[in-house]
Amino acid sequence: MAQFTLPKNSKITTGKHHAAKPGSGQKLRRFKIYRYDPDSEATPRTETYEVDLATCGPMVLDALIKIKNEIDPTLTFRRSCREGICGSCAMNIDGTNTLACTKSIADVSGEVKIYPLPHMPVVKDLVPDMTTFYAQYASIKPWIRTQSSPPPDKERLQSPADRKLIDGLYECILCACCSTSCPSYWWNGDRYLGPAILLQAYRWIVDSRDEDTGARLDDLEDPFRLYRCHTIMNCTKTCPKGLNPAKAIAEIKKAMLARRAV
Ligand code: SF4
Ligand code: SF4
Ligand code: FES
Repeated sequence: MAQFTLPKNSKITTGKHHAAKPGSGQKLRRFKIYRYDPDSEATPRTETYEVDLATCGPMVLDALIKIKNEIDPTLTFRRSCREGICGSCAMNIDGTNTLACTKSIADVSGEVKIYPLPHMPVVKDLVPDMTTFYAQYASIKPWIRTQSSPPPDKERLQSPADRKLIDGLYECILCACCSTSCPSYWWNGDRYLGPAILLQAYRWIVDSRDEDTGARLDDLEDPFRLYRCHTIMNCTKTCPKGLNPAKAIAEIKKAMLARRAV
């Protein structure tokens, strides 16, 4: 029989409230953050932290770092570049998947709610397990594959027009915000590649220097790997880099049709 409620050990409870120290400034803001410790028997919980924005940087990542440094060193999250390049600080903020380092606190009204990327196993707190996502990325062989010998005296060159074809694709930082906002990926994430990986696949399909387009399309010609996309568009709406994975997926489908027509 279908189960409509979460198992008991998955229900999120309300945890500790970390009030600001007496005498803190007037610019207090409350952050409600998902916490999960795999080493404890406890169920996941949310904890709230009061942060004085007068002494905090403007981005959500600044607040997380301040909380970790000054209030609760056990809070766990990933970050590296702090400028929207590495993709490691992807999380769900105020109901949307985005990058904590480029999300301004001022853009959130009221309490700032922070959860890990949805529908991924959680390693700890805000850190999702990306193992399947990276295995799916490896499966598309994301490098130039060639049949011909390289020119003896120069690199494989592209015309400016061919180079333009990978604009809007090469900028993808593999943050997984799009894939984890896609309902098809939620339900079939083990078999459907999801928007991020399909955008990456298209990046190599359309690259004029790659000579394995047929094999790349063969690998995607599958009811699950590609065709679970139902053009719901959540992916494009959420991408923090302003990319359009749904369009890339549509282009792959068009390439499939075009080769069938030949
Ligand atoms: S357009 Fe496709 S990939 Fe994007 S959210 Fe919808 S189903 Fe997922
Ligand atoms: S397409 Fe956008 S949201 Fe998806 S992984 Fe790439 S940068 Fe992140
Ligand atoms: S810390 Fe690198 S994208 Fe946010």
